[in-house]
Amino acid sequence: MGLIKPYLIIKQQVKVGMAKPCGLVKSCHLVKPVSATRVAGRYLSHQKGLPSLPVPPLQQTCERYITALEPILEMDELKHTKELVEEFQKAGGIGEGLQSGLEKRASRTENWLSDWWVQVAYLDYRMPVVVHSSPGLVLPRMNFTDKQGQVRFAAKLIAGVLDFKTMIDNETLPVEYMGEKPLCMNQYYEVLSSCRIPGLKRDSVVNHAKSSRPPKHITVVHNCEFFVLDVYNSDGSVLTAEQLCAQLEKICNSSPKLNNQPVGILTTQHRDTWAKAYINLIKDTKNKESVLAIQRSIFTVCLDGGMPGVSNETYRSCAAIQMLHGGGSQWNSGNRWFDKTLQFIIGEDGMCGANYEHAPAEGPPIVALIDHVVEYTRKLELTQSPAVPLPVPQKLHFNITPDIQKDIEEAKQSMDTLAQDLDMRVMVFSHFGKNVPKAHKMSPDAFIQVALQLAYYRMYQRCCATYESASLRMFRRGRTDTIRSASSASAAFVRAFDDPNRQNTEKVELMEKAVKAHRSYTNMAISGQAVDRHLLGLKMQAVESKLSLPEIFKDAAYAKALHYRLSTSQVPSKTDCVMCFGPVVPDGYGVCYNPMNDHINFAMSSFNSCQGTNGAQLAQSMEGALLDMKKLLDQTPKAKL
Ligand code: COA
Repeated sequence: MGLIKPYLIIKQQVKVGMAKPCGLVKSCHLVKPVSATRVAGRYLSHQKGLPSLPVPPLQQTCERYITALEPILEMDELKHTKELVEEFQKAGGIGEGLQSGLEKRASRTENWLSDWWVQVAYLDYRMPVVVHSSPGLVLPRMNFTDKQGQVRFAAKLIAGVLDFKTMIDNETLPVEYMGEKPLCMNQYYEVLSSCRIPGLKRDSVVNHAKSSRPPKHITVVHNCEFFVLDVYNSDGSVLTAEQLCAQLEKICNSSPKLNNQPVGILTTQHRDTWAKAYINLIKDTKNKESVLAIQRSIFTVCLDGGMPGVSNETYRSCAAIQMLHGGGSQWNSGNRWFDKTLQFIIGEDGMCGANYEHAPAEGPPIVALIDHVVEYTRKLELTQSPAVPLPVPQKLHFNITPDIQKDIEEAKQSMDTLAQDLDMRVMVFSHFGKNVPKAHKMSPDAFIQVALQLAYYRMYQRCCATYESASLRMFRRGRTDTIRSASSASAAFVRAFDDPNRQNTEKVELMEKAVKAHRSYTNMAISGQAVDRHLLGLKMQAVESKLSLPEIFKDAAYAKALHYRLSTSQVPSKTDCVMCFGPVVPDGYGVCYNPMNDHINFAMSSFNSCQGTNGAQLAQSMEGALLDMKKLLDQTPKAKL
């Protein structure tokens, strides 16, 4: 198969658009297939044309590692680490050997990093996927207020996802670009019909889309009861939204009462605990069949019950909690299967969004799919009920033994502890968006990250290791690398900002330097030349070669560098939504944001059990930092610079 023909590629922004009800969603476009019919082989030929992820030069990474440590280490710590790095990279040293092993791996694999990354970051990670790994996505409030509206909206949403799926199946999804560079489209092929499976030491992911008999059903969960809903007719056509609506009504009628033994809550557990419970659960043939039906399904739709304490002021934060963990066992946490890659969540009173299991994909492809779905639901009008009645969707039965019942009770308790511990705040910063930094010729993302550094510094009078995800999708099967947002330049800026002895012109200069330094780290990261994944590769190479771990990885500075008190990510969209996730360390914050043109949606999380963190204060400090940075720019005319 030759290279993909240019006419088959439609340039589509990766950017996908929350503030107001459905009718006020920003105008955006449906993703249009590049052809009305299937284009067999198009996906693979596109993938083949993408460059491989490079292995950066060893010396470069060592130098950049030291530079990245400067703002977060004390002088004596830095001196010690410099000595270890010197030793590591010296001619004929251990670093060279590992580097050459890594280069060999790169020459014989599609992507030297991706499998290791998925393993280390996700499948080996033993904390519960809920809060600790799986992001939630909050959509704008939709304009329905009752059960009927909930079901009708769910039907449209399912139809929208299936419309997008057709493009995946037909290989007619437009290729996405970052600037001029085409992006890897692999993640789109991993998110439907896939599911995480718990394992005793390591989990795995199954993708049934690749089987000889790909699934034709979705799973719907209502009142913590699971149902199989066939979404294709026997002739291969997709059920109409009207048919889907009628089927969803039957599901709701068949599950009028809340099941107080919710099997789904088991998926919220610590992974080792869940793995043991899983073995026990599927010993029963009926249970095994039911679990397999969920795992095989194309995706899951959660028709949720109400949530506590929702007012207009707290609406978005409540919605974020609903999407992230469901609110605890009394509310909707059992109305989930958190191992499922994609769960669409539709609450009562117009709340809706999604939760996704992170191993198969990053946020942007998920948001691109959801942008399409939201637009699809806006355009689709439901007419009258379908003429031909369909069979009632099959309810999935579980035999709950006393052991399983005990596991469910334990899972409920752990989930409730976690739900009580998580503080989640959604803040809509409405004063400006990308427009202001752009007008000052600054990268909006870099501006926001520098503001976050200022916000944190004002609270703690120090800088902390900060993680921002950078996409590696310019490379075949690329996932992410780390942008280290705390730099020497950002440290110089935040220390100067509130110093009354410094002139505004100097402060603006320092701001510009910090913003530029961030953008230049971003460029380095998206082109595969950042530090973190390379260091991980060198470490994994040592582990796989059964060599003793080099000293640089046992160094306290390495642990400090990976203790991200700020774990951040930009997930842009066309729909006015926001993604949310938990902190990655007990004393840290998770910060996800969606910069729109004239406002920015933030979701900030922290743990209540940590005395040292305060989500409300961080949100306030962030707002102040953004406003003060703008004020400084406004008060400092260009001529004075
Ligand atoms: N002057 C004027 N405008 C500028 C500018 C400048 N100096 N620098 C950038 N801009 C513009 C850009 O052209 C762009 O314009 P658009 O709104 O028309 O598209 C806009 O500002 C945004 O650019 P910027 O803020 O620099 O960010 P970005 O879009 O390049 O994104 C990352 C930066 C790091 C977020 C992105 O590269 C990335 O990797 N995203 C994926 C992250 C991810 O995977 N997250 C999910 C993890 S689950």
